[in-house]
Parts: sequence; C-alpha cells; structure tokens
Amino acid sequence: MAVADTRPWWERDADVCWHPYTQHGQAEGLLAIRGAAGAWLELADGRKILDAVSSWWACLHGHGHPQLVAAIAKQAATLDHVLFAGCTHEPAVRLAERLCAVAPAGLTRAFYSDDGSTAVEVALKACYAAAARRGEQGRTLFLALEGGYHGDTFGAMAVGDPDPFFREYGDLMFQVERMPADVGALEALMAARGAEAAALIVEPIVQGAAGMASVPPAFLQAARRLCDEHGVLLIADEVMTGFGRTGTLFACEQAGISPDALCLSKGLTGGMLPLAATLFSEAIFEAFRSDDRSRMFFHGHTFTGHAIGCAVALASLDVVEAEGTPARMEANGRRIEAGLRSALEEGDDLAWRRFGGIVAVELAGESGYLSEVGPRLKAACRELSPDVLLRPLGRVLYAMPPACTTEAECDLIATRMAAIVQSVRHPESA
Ligand SMILES: Cc1ncc(COP(=O)(O)O)c(C=O)c1O
Repeated sequence: MAVADTRPWWERDADVCWHPYTQHGQAEGLLAIRGAAGAWLELADGRKILDAVSSWWACLHGHGHPQLVAAIAKQAATLDHVLFAGCTHEPAVRLAERLCAVAPAGLTRAFYSDDGSTAVEVALKACYAAAARRGEQGRTLFLALEGGYHGDTFGAMAVGDPDPFFREYGDLMFQVERMPADVGALEALMAARGAEAAALIVEPIVQGAAGMASVPPAFLQAARRLCDEHGVLLIADEVMTGFGRTGTLFACEQAGISPDALCLSKGLTGGMLPLAATLFSEAIFEAFRSDDRSRMFFHGHTFTGHAIGCAVALASLDVVEAEGTPARMEANGRRIEAGLRSALEEGDDLAWRRFGGIVAVELAGESGYLSEVGPRLKAACRELSPDVLLRPLGRVLYAMPPACTTEAECDLIATRMAAIVQSVRHPESA
C-alpha cells in the first residue's frame, strides 16, 4: 500500500508543478499563499505580504473586492458559461457596450478571448486578414517596438522583442521589423517598409516587461499619423496599462489617439478571472462581414465571452467609476515616488520613471531581463522586504500596487524599495 505523503502542499509543489518564468534548477523559495484580502497576500504560515506588483499587474482594486466577489457568485448561480458562437448573453452584450463607450473613439466591436496573449493574437490575425481583404496581399510584415512584450503564444512572441525570451523559437516566427520608440526611426521604417506592413503594435506610454520603459505621447501621435499615411493598422496593447494603471482610464488618452485595435485583459476583470477583449474599428469588422461563409473570422476559444468573466468585468467597471481608480493609481504612484526620492540620494547610477501608479527605479549595470543586477536585486528583495512583494525586471525595481493601497502602505513600499536599491548600490555598507 502506498504511504500517504504527509508533507504540506507547498512542499509537494516541487514534485508536480512547473512554474512560469522560473528556473527550477536554481533554488528559489516559493511563497506559499493561502489567502488574499485588499492589498495583502496571506502566507501559509500566517505571515502577510503586500502585493506591490498586483499579482502580475492584474489585481486592480485589491484582492477579494466584495462587489466583484458578489458579481461572480450571482452570475455563477444564473449562467456560468455558454458557447458564444450561435448564442449570446446579457453580461457579454452589456460589457461590449460599456467597453466601446469608454474606450478611445472609433472602437465599436468587442471580440472576447481569455488572456493578454490571446487578445493580441486576435488583433494580429484580424488586422492581417483585414489588410489582405482590402486587396493588399503584400502586407505580410508587422512593425513593433524594441523591448516590446505582448505575450507568450506564437503570434504574440513574434511581435515581442526576442531577447531573451523568444530567441529559441526564432526560426518559427513571421516577419517583424522593430524600432525604438523614436519618431525618426518610425518615419524611416515606414518610408522603407510601410507598404509591406499590415499593422504596427505598441504598448502605449509604458512598456511593462521592458522594465517600465517610456513610449512618449509624441511617438504615439506620430505612429497614428504615419499608420494612416501608409495604410498600416495601429494596434494598442493595453493589457497592462488599461483601466487606470497609468493615471488615465486608457494610456492612449494621454496621446489623444485612437488605435484601430485595442487589446485588454488583466485589469478587465479587476484581476479576478481570466478574460480578454480586443476592441476593433467598424472598418475591420466590416472586412469580415459578407454573405460568404468562407470569409468569416475563423477564430474562437472555448471560453470566448465567458459569462462569469463578463459579469465580474462589469462589476469592476462600476468600481472603477465609483472609486475613481485612475486618480487613485496616480495618487499612490506619487506617494511612492515621493517616499523613494526622499529616502534615496540622487545619482547618475539611478534613473527614475513614473507612469500613474507605476513607479520604477533603474540601476546602473547591464540592461535587459538577464542583467547581472537582477539576481542581486532579487536576493535583496527576499532579505530586506519580507512584508512587501517586489519582483525586479532585470536591473529595474518597480512597484504597481492595487488601487486600494493606503498612504501608509505606499510609504512601506517606498521604504522597502529604498532599502533594496541602497543595498545593491552600496553592498559594502549593507
Ligand atoms: C503589454 C502586455 N501584453 C500582453 C501580455 C500577455 O498577457 P497574458 O500573460 O495574460 O497572456 C502582457 C503580460 O504581461 C503584457 O504586459
């Protein structure tokens, strides 16, 4: 008879789980989480740790927001899930109406999927086929930004920066030309290859995985103008920035532009359930509408338009409006930045960035995700910040806590970040 494994579940993890973005060949203690409320995660041993990274940038209001929990329970008891081909339901329709109403002008159709990567796949496939259906068969190229990250499925990988995540799959990718977020570089690329391009994809205002790098409004305005001039569609990936993270409901608002396709996920459900929506212009939708079945958009996922996901997204939008989420994010970001600035002496070895509720400090050293500064920052996070969860991106330490984070909690985040940065800057005095 097999002997029962009496180890607690967090010790059994190592035998059966394969974690994302984790090198299992290196010892890296896991945090065993048994619960969450507001800005705090609760560990299996009863300790609490503040979720300063919003659980991979998803948790928008705070964990377990009662309005969202109630919406899930109510919808689950009414209609859990039904296929969205040949069927429809009220949460999906109401959510599409609300998203189109609050999104930048000109986006009139919502296509639902599951997560950020699928939101991007949907945008890429629809834009590519829409260009071909205009009779422009030669548009087989996509344009993207250096440092961009759009997800881990193949299309999303292809438009993402290959270094270091996707290099291994390079032989399998379609054609993408990349440039820095610089107007001159985009002008040159459009002049050289605009006629071959189906779409340009950008993370507006801030590129997350690149280390919270800036994509300035002037670049986005030029992108809109040049896309129009060259017949290229513009895709805004607001999977991270959507729903108030950067201090406005959508980051595109800061440049006053409307894309042709807008990718949303993460904060769409307040971070509670996986759901995505890609919003499109009517012109793109019309490229697929005909009386010919062979010209439909051949794309769909089992859980497209998931009813519970849509219901919680509607509740989340109510909370965004009632609680003023973008303004809260802005206030939190300002508070964290002020705390950090007063705790850290300025120096050439530090660069600062803040976008609404996202605050980043970049240290000197090798750039990129595999920067040698990264492991030192990570070790310092573990040692010096047992009560604030922070995960550096290469040599960049950042925070983007949920909107419910209090002033005192923002100050705690700033204190911990400052201690971590100081210890890596001046290891001799640590
Ligand atoms: C800008 C952006 N796009 C797309 C994605 C992919 O989202 P997901 O991990 O939900 O597939 C991410 C994830 O971090 C992201 O930051």
